[in-house]
Amino acid sequence: MCGIVGYYGKQDQVLDTLVSGLKRLEYRGYDSAGVAIINKDQEFTCIKEVGKIKNLENKINNQNIPEFKGIGIAHTRWATHGVPSVENAHPHSGQDQKIFLVHNGIIENYQEIKDKLTNEGVTFYSQTDTEVLAKLIEFNYTGDLKEAVLKSLEVVQGAYATVVLAKNEPDRLIAVKKGSPMVLGLNGDEYILGSDVSAIISKTREVIYLEDGEMIDINNGQYSVCNLDNQSLDKDIHNIDWDEDAASKEGYEHFLIKEILEQPKVIKDSVRGRLLPDTGDIKFGGLIDVMDKIKEVNRVIILGIGTSFYSAKLGELYFESIANIPAKAEMSPEFRYNDAVIDDKTWVIAISQSGETADTIAGIEEAKRKGALVTGIVNSVGSPIARITDAGVYNQIGPEISVASTKAFTSQATLLLMHAILLGRTRGLGYTQAEELISEIKKLPEYFEKVALLRGETKELASKYINYDNLVYVGRKYNYPIALEGALKIKEVSYVHAEGLSAGEFKHGFIALIDEKMPTIAILTKDSVYDKMVSNVEEIRARNGKIIAIASEGDERVESISEDVIYVPRSTKEEIQPLINNMALQLLAYNFAHGRGLDVDKPRNLAKSVTVE
Ligand code: G6P
Repeated sequence: MCGIVGYYGKQDQVLDTLVSGLKRLEYRGYDSAGVAIINKDQEFTCIKEVGKIKNLENKINNQNIPEFKGIGIAHTRWATHGVPSVENAHPHSGQDQKIFLVHNGIIENYQEIKDKLTNEGVTFYSQTDTEVLAKLIEFNYTGDLKEAVLKSLEVVQGAYATVVLAKNEPDRLIAVKKGSPMVLGLNGDEYILGSDVSAIISKTREVIYLEDGEMIDINNGQYSVCNLDNQSLDKDIHNIDWDEDAASKEGYEHFLIKEILEQPKVIKDSVRGRLLPDTGDIKFGGLIDVMDKIKEVNRVIILGIGTSFYSAKLGELYFESIANIPAKAEMSPEFRYNDAVIDDKTWVIAISQSGETADTIAGIEEAKRKGALVTGIVNSVGSPIARITDAGVYNQIGPEISVASTKAFTSQATLLLMHAILLGRTRGLGYTQAEELISEIKKLPEYFEKVALLRGETKELASKYINYDNLVYVGRKYNYPIALEGALKIKEVSYVHAEGLSAGEFKHGFIALIDEKMPTIAILTKDSVYDKMVSNVEEIRARNGKIIAIASEGDERVESISEDVIYVPRSTKEEIQPLINNMALQLLAYNFAHGRGLDVDKPRNLAKSVTVE
């Protein structure tokens, strides 16, 4: 949430690096954006614009910028305090524009600081908490930027990743992290700071991950790292193993459709080397060190939010049926306040595509405090969640850029199924059952190839229902989480009101809303609850409800009870089927949003990585 870029190096690289870094981070927020650079005569030029980065870029291109130095900061915003506007956009400055900064996070005690500074004669122009931080640092500035930042942070409560410049020290850039992410890229005499590595990879693969309470001081071409007590720290330099092309659209119109259609490939990457069909086992290199603890647990909690929570809901079912262990999916924003019963025999699995979600981080910390084993399923390599968990497994699906999560869900659910098999094998799961599941997991790419062929059909279906403003998704058992995820996906990208429900729950209230204007997407593939689903669908039809069915290939019966049917390939395992069904619903959501002419990759009001509570 909110993207930050900082640059120190070559004059001719400043604006390009800042703007291209922001474009890479745009999925984090896109309400407004801005840059600040220092001119040769030691004044700041700050350019800000509302809306997407391209608006800012146009404004920069149309502006006569005085000659400037090789240093600058930039920001793309997802509003927390104050509406999206030029005044509220970052960078923000101190009273006399001696310092400028960009910030990601929330300053919790901003009002208190603002009141004190106002009494000292400081004037505020925005509604943001960030401006308070900028004004405070300048208020404390007496010629040494590091000193001013350290002094200011003594009174600041909350979360921040911030990069600060001072016009009187035009060869200096300070960055601090607490709660929100920050990475430093090293490229000879150039330094690039970013909220995550995507802002950096076009320049370098060598990075330093800042931890909470750490500060980087880049001064006259040298960098040093210290803590907030100003004690020097030695930091490891990591190499990012990332293919830059994976972060481009590769000829597709949108990242969303690219990421949906690349699932046959990425799911292979996600499970590669981890399935051992000969012995019916699963091998996760990242869990080897904690396997002894895993064998001792008597309870599993799966933590996540948004799409990651819905994959956790599937995981809950997998663990209970395959590993025969009590399991619960927990929504991280609630979990952190819920006094959950956890002890050292609890295995908490944190699910996060970005590895940055603030509530999930808080949940992990709470679980660790209570003695649980905490592992992660994370996509973003080196992200905060990957680093604070005791051990973990990476999704290995490459960057997911589109704000609506698709391939990450599929990988998370598949890896959770594999976690359940891994644990199940230590708790009585037989070879045959494990092997059958493993061989169906291996077939997922084949199934996904077939679902990809439904692109045209889902487009036609979307155009038929494009003017409907209310939809309901129903499923049961393994397809209940898919009903929830299907509804979330279409809401996120199409702004259609959609609800996901258990088909069994339907008649306990929701059915009152059913009429010919509220179509139901029923996940009706063949499984152990198929007959129950058919009865539930009949109940809806009896109230003039239109049914759009997701059904198993060859199931002609469904045609007689539905207005429209999308046929999907059938897996021999009901644990696998929801993943196939979900991909069809992803295509439907994409086509719905695209048909409505919306910005499918950057839906309004959303951010891909939510680093505030
Ligand atoms: C945001 C995103 C969702 C995502 C959720 C959790 O709401 O828009 O797509 O599912 O955060 O993110 P995480 O990175 O923890 O999986």
